[in-house]
Parts: sequence; C-alpha cells; structure tokens
Amino acid sequence: MEDKKRLPRHVSIIMDGNGRWAQARGKERVFGHLEGVESVRACLEAAVEDGIEYLSLYAFSEENWNRPQAEVNALMELMMESIRKETANMMENGVRFLVLGNRSRLSEKLNAAIDALTRETSANPRTTLIVFLSYSGKWDIAQAVRKAASELPAEKLQSLEPEDLDKYLVTAGIPDPDLLIRTSGELRISNYLLWQCAYTEFYFTDVLWPDFRKPQFREAIAAYSARDRRYGKVK
Ligand code: IPE
Ligand code: IPE
Ligand code: MG
Repeated sequence: MEDKKRLPRHVSIIMDGNGRWAQARGKERVFGHLEGVESVRACLEAAVEDGIEYLSLYAFSEENWNRPQAEVNALMELMMESIRKETANMMENGVRFLVLGNRSRLSEKLNAAIDALTRETSANPRTTLIVFLSYSGKWDIAQAVRKAASELPAEKLQSLEPEDLDKYLVTAGIPDPDLLIRTSGELRISNYLLWQCAYTEFYFTDVLWPDFRKPQFREAIAAYSARDRRYGKVK
C-alpha cells in the first residue's frame, strides 16, 4: 500500500546520448537512434507492468530541427516506422498513444500516421505514452498565451492565474511529471517541460539512452520512491 502511494503517476524521460553511444562503437549516429527505440520499448513495457499511468518521452525538440537534414530525416522516418511496428503491441498492452508538440512542422504523412494511432489507441486503459515531438517548453508557454489571449475576455486576462494557463498548454489535463529522468550525464533541461516541472523530482544518470533498459528504469523509480517531496512546506 505504502509502495503504491510512492509510485510516480507520471514519469518523463529526456532520452539523450544516442549519438555518443553509436560513436563509441565507431558507427553513424543513426545507429544509436535505432538502438534507442529498443530502450523505448523496454521502458514502456516496464511502465505498463508497474502500473505507471503516464510515461512521456522527449523525442525531438524544436531546437533539434537545426541538426543536419539527413539526421532530421532519419529521426522522422524512425518515428514513422516505430508507429507502424508498435501499433499491435500498444493495442495488446492497453497503451494509449499521444503526440504533443508543434505539429505544424511535421510532414502530412507523419501527422496522418500519428492521428490514426492516437484514434486507434484512445480507449486503451493502461499506460498513456506521450511522445514530445517538435516540442519546446518556451514554445508551449508562448502558444498557451496566444490561445488564452484570443479566447479569454480582457478582464479575465488581467487577473490570469497559473491554473488558468495550465488549460492552454499542450499538456492540459495531464498531471505534471512526478519524476524526470535524463540520461547521458547532461545536467540540463534543454527547453523541455519548463512550466510543468515546477515541482518535479529530477534524476540524472550517466547511462546513455540505448543502454537504459528495464533495470535502469526501475532503479530510477526506486530512487524516486525514497525521496521526500515537500512542496515548500515543513514536514
Ligand atoms: C538523443 O540523443 C536523441 C535526440 C535528441 C533526438 P542525441 O542524438 O542527442 O545523442 P548525443 O547527445 O549527441 O549523444
Ligand atoms: C534534448 O537532447 C532533446 C531530446 C532528448 C529530444 P539534446 O541532445 O538535443 O540536448 P542538448 O543539445 O544536449 O542540450
Ligand atoms: Mg544529445
């Protein structure tokens, strides 16, 4: 019972280190991305098995569009392929699929595939898998402000509270991450969920994303479970 209480509802991961993993083996960066898909599968499986409600993954940032075109294309193709390959698996395991980010920058073909999988999995009752694609935290806040400004009367805007803005972020209705994991030893947030991580617990590991599998995922969950969250209060 106590264990259940300490389980994070929402685990988020900045999946980093694919390029270095490949380069350490004398291979092209894209091999690291390919191997990284296996880590996604493993962590999703662990999340489903352990009863984690939300698993979200930072797959591609707005800044990542500035990478060489060939790498961007490879990543987008990998996304298409993963959608095709993982559909059956998600249906079997009761996984609900969502993509959040600046969808206007994705190809029509990819957007259509995302929409189809989102629709197909929408009633699945177990873990919700959220893929952040073409996402950045500052972009999210800016689009939320734009939407709020166009929908709310001036009077309401003038007295806007943080909870009011929550409803316009792309994560509306999704609980904030309880635990944010970043692999590959980098100690930064790289414009990820800036607003939503206000009280998130951070977990950094040197393990590169392609090496981050079920045991490493469960180790991070265990570290979270041992922490004391105070939210500014005295306990
Ligand atoms: C993470 O691995 C994947 C994406 C950001 C798309 P990287 O590609 O950033 O790998 P490193 O950090 O260069 O090793
Ligand atoms: C963060 O990784 C973005 C994703 C994992 C999608 P990056 O590799 O792009 O971040 P920086 O450039 O090291 O900050
Ligand atoms: Mg990186």
